[in-house]
Parts: sequence; C-alpha cells; structure tokens
Amino acid sequence: MKSNYYILAIDTSCDETAAAVTRNDWVLSNIISSQVEFHKQYGGVVPFLAKRKHQEMIDSVVKEALFRAGVKMEKIDAIAVTIGPGLAPALEVGVNYAKQLAIDNKKPLIAVNHMEGHLLSSFAKNSNGIGPFSKTKSLFPILGLLVSGGHTQLVLMDSLGKYRLLGETLDDAAGEAFDKVAKMLELGYPGGAIISELAKKGFPKYKLPIPMIRNHDLNFSFSGLKTACLYKLRDLKEPRDKQFFQDFSASFEQAVIVALSIKFKKAIERYQPKQIVLGGGVINNLHLRQAMRKIARSNKIPLFVPYNKKLFSDNAAMI
Ligand code: KG4
Ligand code: ZN
Repeated sequence: MKSNYYILAIDTSCDETAAAVTRNDWVLSNIISSQVEFHKQYGGVVPFLAKRKHQEMIDSVVKEALFRAGVKMEKIDAIAVTIGPGLAPALEVGVNYAKQLAIDNKKPLIAVNHMEGHLLSSFAKNSNGIGPFSKTKSLFPILGLLVSGGHTQLVLMDSLGKYRLLGETLDDAAGEAFDKVAKMLELGYPGGAIISELAKKGFPKYKLPIPMIRNHDLNFSFSGLKTACLYKLRDLKEPRDKQFFQDFSASFEQAVIVALSIKFKKAIERYQPKQIVLGGGVINNLHLRQAMRKIARSNKIPLFVPYNKKLFSDNAAMI
C-alpha cells in the first residue's frame, strides 16, 4: 500500500477562492484569495459577483497551491472539492474546475462536505507534521462544535467518517447574527471580527435575551437575539460613542457565547465525549474559545482547535 497520498483540494463555497495541497494529514500549502474587500461595499456577499471573482482567481490560486507545495500535478493522487453546503453559484465554479482538472489529468475526484472539513480541521498538521493531534491520539467519541457564517452545529464523531448531528441552528447561524448585528450598528462587513475587537474593551451592560435557554434539545436559534438587538438599538437614547459600541458589542457577544455554552455543556453531559474539537470562522472569537476551553477543562476533556488560524475560517486544506 502507498504510504503517501497527495491531494489537491479546492473550496469556493462562499467568498474565498481556496486551494491547498496535502500529503496525508500534512498541509503542504494553503492558499486563500479573499473577496472580502470587494463585497464590503455591498455590505455582504453578492452571489453572482462571488461567482465571477472565483472564475477570475481559481486558476492562479490552484497553480500557486501546487507551486508553494513544490508538488507537480503528476504527483497528485486525487482532487478534492467542496460540493456544499455553500452559495450555489460560487460552489459551481470550484466543482466545474475540479471536474475538468480531474478529466484532463486522469485523476479521481473526491466530493467533500464543507462542514465535514470544518469538523476535521483540527486534525490537520503543518508541513513539519506538527498539529493538535500530533502528540496525542484521537480518542472517540469526539464532540465537535462548529460555528461559522452559515452553520452552527454540534456533531458527535463516533469515528472518522461516522457522524451524528446532535443539534443545529433552527434559523440564523451564530456568524450570520454577528454580521447582521454589526450591520445594524453600521460597523461594516464582515461584522464578526469587528464586534469581537470592540467587545474586548466593552462591558456587557445591556440585557439581551439568551436564545433557546430552556429547550431540552441541542438546537440553537439566533434570530430572536438579532431582533432583540434591533429593538434595543431603536429604544436606547444613549449617545453612539465608542464606549456604547464597545458595551453593546460585549453584550451581544456574551449572549451568543452563553447560548452556545448551554448547549455545549448539555452535549457533554449527554454524550460524554473523550475529546472535543472546535471549527468554523466564529472560533476566531477569543472569548468564545476561552469559554469553551473553561467548560472542557471543568469536565476534564481535552479540547483542540486547528494549529493555525487560517484553518478556522474557510480554506481548502481542511477539504
Ligand atoms: O467558517 P467561515 O469562514 O465561513 C463559513 O463557512 O460561513 O465563517 C465566517 C463567519 C462570518 O460570519 C464572520 O463574521 C465570523 O465567521 N467571524 C467571527 C470572527 N471572525 C470571523 N465571528 C465572531 N468573532 C470573530 N472574531
Ligand atoms: Zn466555512
């Protein structure tokens, strides 16, 4: 049996054109061309423009991934591509490109679920073979908390490839709520990182409802919190100074973190995982990572996040 498998992976699920080369679980290159600056002026991702940008960028991003990895196309064993979930016009670009590349080079094509990518991102190792799981064995079941712009999920991994969806958002995803509340505050796009920075210097003095607090299931809901923010902002007569933005950001961030923590704790109690992994763009949020680490520690369960922040948000190495 071959010991080294080289994979060229592509992800165009949203507003990042991404390609990577991996050797087994080692990431040899991970190229991400972000369209954020371009979509900023519209306050969010415009699907048909995202498609056009992906079409412009994909060829050079893939070539760059091969070049940086120092791997020639002949050496690639398979091509992997995200088939969803994501923006359909954006996904289409990556899928069509990957299909053609597979045909032209006579390589097998592997279709990958984007959320499975986020779930497994903590397993990735860098080009020296160092990663969260390099010094420790993966012990199942592993609980995954995935928090991104499109999804909020609790997943139980019984083994690699065997997953149970324990709970998910019934409406808006946590990242989407961050982005929408940032828009209400006229802070710009994408809002998650901006709110997160402001919240570091704020005090959570505004009372906001904690979503789904009394439900016994493991699902989430963030649209009520978003609406509560809208009403609160309408009714508050305070000056919109720096302190106000910092405090409001801290209040909103805390409500999201508490909502996630409650279900996260419930999932731990119910399923007794041996290890925990976090994934998705919202885990860039320092307070969120700290809160989840604290819960994991008090339950004496090791918690892992990807070795590099590049693997938190959308990328192709995880694919
Ligand atoms: O995983 P991701 O890159 O894309 C999706 O698959 O959706 O996640 C993007 C989301 C956006 O909603 C963005 O606002 C949010 O992650 N995000 C953050 C932070 N950085 C990015 N949310 C909260 N705090 C952050 N520091
Ligand atoms: Zn994602």
